Amino acid sequence: MPTNPLTTLFHLSDIHFGLENNLALDWVKQEIAERRPQAVAITGDLTMRARHREFAAACRWIQSLDVPVTVEVGNHDMPYFNLIERMFAPYRRFRAIEGLIEREIDLAGIAIVPLKTAVRAQPRLNWSKGWVSRSALKKCLAAIDALPPGKRALVAAHHPLREVGTKGTALTANGTRALCELARRPVLGVLSGHVHDPFDLIEDTPAGPVRMIGAGTLSQRLRSTPPSFNEITWDGAVLKVRARNLEEVPTRAMQIDDVPENALPPREPGEPVAPVNQVPRTDPPVH
Ligand SMILES: [Fe+2]
Ligand SMILES: [Fe+2]
Repeated sequence: MPTNPLTTLFHLSDIHFGLENNLALDWVKQEIAERRPQAVAITGDLTMRARHREFAAACRWIQSLDVPVTVEVGNHDMPYFNLIERMFAPYRRFRAIEGLIEREIDLAGIAIVPLKTAVRAQPRLNWSKGWVSRSALKKCLAAIDALPPGKRALVAAHHPLREVGTKGTALTANGTRALCELARRPVLGVLSGHVHDPFDLIEDTPAGPVRMIGAGTLSQRLRSTPPSFNEITWDGAVLKVRARNLEEVPTRAMQIDDVPENALPPREPGEPVAPVNQVPRTDPPVH
C-alpha cells in the first residue's frame, strides 16, 4: 500500500547542447511546466563538445525550468579540442553550471546520489567509455551510507554500469564491482544515459539484484528510439518508470528487446503493445 504522497522525478539524459533537438526540448519543458515534477535529474552529456556556448545554452534552458535540477558529468562535458585543459582542469567548464544545479537532491524518502563514471583519460583507446574509479565509488557509497534511516538512494551516473543490449555501448570498467556494492545498500535504482536508448531492467549480482534505469536522448543523435525521457514516480513502496517519447511510440516499444518481462514499466490501460521493429530507426551516429 502507498505510504507517501507521490513523488515525481523526470530523468533526462544526453541533451548534447550544440546538437540538441529543440522540438524535443520544447516538449519536455512544457511537460515539466504542466506536471511540476519535484526534481529533474540529467544523467550527463549535457553538451556536444563542452564548448562555452553549449554550456551557456544549457544554462539558459535549465534556468527556464523553475524546478530543482541535478546534472551528472558525461564524457562529452569535458574539453574535447583542448587536451591541456582536459588533463589539468577537466571539469572547469562543467562547474560553470554548478550555481544552477543542486548536486544532491532530497525528495520525500529518496535521495539522488551521484556516481561519476566519465573520466578525463583512461588506459584504453576510447575515452568515451565508462570508468568507475575507486575514489568515485567510495564517495558515492559514503553518501549512501550517510543517509538517514529509511531513506533510499537513486544513484545517478552517466554510463550504464554494465552492457544493457542497446546499440550503443558503455563498457564501464569496474561497473560490476560498483553494482555489487550498490546491491548491499538501500538503492532503488541506478539512473544512467550515454547509450541514447531507454531501458529498465534488473541486474543480478552476488550481493542481490540492482535495478538499472536508462534514459534516452533529447538530442539529434538518435540510436534506435525517438527523443525521450523517463517519468519516474515513487509512492513510498513502488518505483514506476515510464519512458515518454516525442513521437508517442507505445511505452513497451521504447524498451530494448532483452529486458526481462518483470522489469518493464507497466503499460497504460488500453495501450497497444507494438513490436520493437515499429520504432523508427536511424543510423547510429559515431560516438
Ligand atoms: Fe551521449
Ligand atoms: Fe556519453
